Amino acid sequence: MAKLSINPISGSLGAEVTGIDVSDISDTDFELLEQAFHEYLVIAIRGQSLCPASLYALTERLGGVGETPYLTGLSDWPDVVPIIKEANEKSGRSFGAGWHTDFTFQARPPSRTLLYAVDTPPVGGDTLYSNLYKAYETLSPGMKRKLSGLNCVHSAIRSYGPDSTLGDHLENMEIHYDKQQPVEQIHPVVRQHPVTGQNALWINPTYSIRFEAMTEAESKPLLDYLNQLAVNPSLTSRLSWQPGTLAMWDNRCTQHCATSDYKGHRREMLRTTVAGEIPVAAGTTQP
Ligand code: SIN
Repeated sequence: MAKLSINPISGSLGAEVTGIDVSDISDTDFELLEQAFHEYLVIAIRGQSLCPASLYALTERLGGVGETPYLTGLSDWPDVVPIIKEANEKSGRSFGAGWHTDFTFQARPPSRTLLYAVDTPPVGGDTLYSNLYKAYETLSPGMKRKLSGLNCVHSAIRSYGPDSTLGDHLENMEIHYDKQQPVEQIHPVVRQHPVTGQNALWINPTYSIRFEAMTEAESKPLLDYLNQLAVNPSLTSRLSWQPGTLAMWDNRCTQHCATSDYKGHRREMLRTTVAGEIPVAAGTTQP
C-alpha cells in the first residue's frame, strides 16, 4: 500500500487519510493516526475494506466499545449498529440529521465514534462537523467567565423519549424508546479534553436541555446563542463519503450533523463508539 498521507479537508477541522489499511496497522502508523486525530478532530480514512469483526477489533484497540442504548446492533455484533436508509423509504430524513454530539446524555459519553460507509448515494449523504475548541475560542473573556463553572442538563428525551417520532423517519432501523422520562446527566458547559487539555464549548441542540438549576425557558436564549455560534460555517467541515471510507470523530470537542439530501437512494453505514470518560470542567487537574 502507498505511504500514509494526511490532508486537511477544511481550515477548521477534518482530514482525509490515505495509504493505510486499518485492519493491519503498524504501531507507528497507529501513532501517526492518533496524532492526526487529535490535531484534526475528525479523520476520514479512505479505501478501507472492513467487516463488522474488523470494525469491532479496531474499536477495541482504541479503548473498548461504548454502551449503545436505544439503537439495535447487528445480531452477531450487538455493538456494531447499522445505519440504513433504503431507496424506497417514505421519509427522506436521515438518522443523526440535526447537530449533536453523540450520546451526551450518558454519564460517560463516548469519546469517539467510528462510522464506516458500506453503500453511499451517488451524490449527497455527506456529514457536517463543527470544531467546539474554536467555538470556545470565539467567545469574549466575559462570556468565558460566565460559562466557567456552569453545568448543563443533558437528556435523550427529544430523540428517544416516550413522545419521540424519530422512528417514523427510519423504517429500516429498530429504535427502542424510553417508556418514561430518560435519566438526566449534568455535564460542564466548558469541557476540558482529557488528552489535549484544550477547552471545548460542550453543548449541543439535541441533548443539552437546560442549564443546571434553571428552567428550559430561562436557559433557551443563551443555549440558542451558543448552539448557533458552535455551528458557524467558519467552524465547520463537510465529509463526502465513498464506500470504504471510515471516519472517526472526537465527541469531546466536535458536533456533527447528517444531511438528508439523497431521497430515493440507498445509504448504509456501520457505527461503533469508543467508551469515554466522565466529562470534566475547564481548569480541572486531570490524572
Ligand atoms: C450519526 O449521527 O451518528 C450518523 C451520522 C451519519 O450517518 O452521517
